[in-house]
Amino acid sequence: MIYDHSKPHNLADEQLDEAYSDGDRDDAGREIDLMLWNARLQPLADTSELCASAQPHACRSKLAESFLVNFAGAKPAATTSAPVGAADLTVVGGAGHVGIPLVLAFAEAGYRVNVHDTNRDVLATLQSGRLPFIEHGGEDLLAKVLKQNRLIFTSSPAEISRTGPLIITIGTPIDEFLNPVRKVVQDCIDALLPHLADGQLLVLRSTVFPGTTEWLDGYLKRNNRALKVAFCPERTVQGHGIKELRETPQIISGTTPAAEAEAGKLFSAIAPELVVVSPREAELAKLFNNAYRYIEFAAANQFYLIAKAAGLDYRRIYDAMKRNYPRARGIPTPGLAAGPCLMKDTAQLAAFAQNQFSLGNAAMLVNEGLVLHICDDLRRRYDLSRMTVGLLGMAFKAEIDDTRASLSYKFKKVLANLAGAVLTTDPFVTTDAELLALDEVIARSDILILCAPHSAYRDLDFAGKPVVDVWGFLAQGERDLAARHAEFVGTRLATLSEGKEGSHALVDAMAVTKSARALASLWADTFHMKNADGSAHESNP
Ligand SMILES: NC(=O)c1ccc[n+]([C@@H]2O[C@H](COP(=O)([O-])OP(=O)(O)OC[C@H]3O[C@@H](n4cnc5c(N)ncnc54)[C@H](O)[C@@H]3O)[C@@H](O)[C@H]2O)c1
Repeated sequence: MIYDHSKPHNLADEQLDEAYSDGDRDDAGREIDLMLWNARLQPLADTSELCASAQPHACRSKLAESFLVNFAGAKPAATTSAPVGAADLTVVGGAGHVGIPLVLAFAEAGYRVNVHDTNRDVLATLQSGRLPFIEHGGEDLLAKVLKQNRLIFTSSPAEISRTGPLIITIGTPIDEFLNPVRKVVQDCIDALLPHLADGQLLVLRSTVFPGTTEWLDGYLKRNNRALKVAFCPERTVQGHGIKELRETPQIISGTTPAAEAEAGKLFSAIAPELVVVSPREAELAKLFNNAYRYIEFAAANQFYLIAKAAGLDYRRIYDAMKRNYPRARGIPTPGLAAGPCLMKDTAQLAAFAQNQFSLGNAAMLVNEGLVLHICDDLRRRYDLSRMTVGLLGMAFKAEIDDTRASLSYKFKKVLANLAGAVLTTDPFVTTDAELLALDEVIARSDILILCAPHSAYRDLDFAGKPVVDVWGFLAQGERDLAARHAEFVGTRLATLSEGKEGSHALVDAMAVTKSARALASLWADTFHMKNADGSAHESNP
């Protein structure tokens, strides 16, 4: 089915039941002190250039109607031989998180796909039949299309296919001012352009700053090139792209009716619905989707913090809000809103709005600030300097292996300055040499923080140790954090001997929590405890 933008319709529900987060943010952006970020945001230097090149767009309805007629038989015939020149389609960045599911979807639909990527290692991994990261349902499909000889791998622009459309899925980061970096798109195009043929369709699929599609169209014209330009954003959730490409409506836009028609024809081979809009509308639709999701997570996180400050258990309130109440169905749980897209795209939208995006700005403060809040809360309750903190889950969300822009690493960094030691573990991540086995982290830690709610953690035995669970995910939850800590201290006390040494150790154990400090110092006073050098025994400051 094809939707015209002018007709009322329901877009797919925004996957509120999905894993928590996804998205695109570079490391420089994530380290910014968000309390200062408002002051640091700069109006985007090239906004006026992008705006100046914007063209009004027309012809949507007629074109959408024509799709209904023309799409039959759009799939190309499968072949077995695969010279590069004979590719039906090229995916630039084809070995990335967006690229791979897209490549596999088109190959499954019968296309012979040129997988073009500058990362040769990942290309080699794909060629050997393995996926470089978790993509559910991907390996079987990869094996199938490799066997059918439907993939062609290239890493140099000179090798790229001069036939068929090109879909660009490269990363589009923000810079240290939280502004988009259009140069990555320009550099990519500059490298490819000498090897492309006029008339080829160029589809931007990466999430781009509004106006980029029309800027690209103008840029090509200024360079006397006649390629067709379209923008068809990716909206699937990471790790589930193969399934979601089959289910998610595809937004289609082009800078000319011909570009729009060809892009629509292309995506009709893999998408269940097409939604046709102008490039600027499509660019904003993608950013609005991500920013809206990020704001929803921020609302949930702020509700959690409000309840916590009031001394209440948010899990009970959450249940009361949602149970059999349809209008609250979409309220997500609190949790770490991380990953390479959501914050990055909220920042892009803020830059586009000349920083007049108060909800987006607030969402960044709440979501990024959650880590700092938790650390500060722990610092107030415990003498962290005498404790080992274990971080459970270093991926940016549950059940994946991707650590890009994971807030778990923000925890690690902040706690490195506060805690005696920080230990980390993750069952999926393979790229971090500092990760330890789960058992070891639980055994050696005094307190644990659930960073990514991997299902393997749900019913774990934490040996009575306190666990911070913002998500409300664990079977036990964090509602009994204080009780479990008391139990934990009690267990340690029970193991101590009764002699004077034991009394010193007992005072130390009690002083681990600030709440027990008064009692510890009373205990020390009562027993007139002295250190080996004769000085008075001091509990923690
Ligand atoms: N990850 C997601 O779930 C997701 C979802 C929707 C949209 N997006 C958007 O899609 C884009 C890509 O994200 P990603 O997560 O797939 O990034 P990624 O880093 O996983 O993949 C990008 C790929 O492009 C390759 N590449 C970079 N420059 C290249 C060049 N000049 N020529 C050829 N290959 C090049 C890289 O080697 C990499 O394999 C971003 O704009 C992102 O915001 C991502």
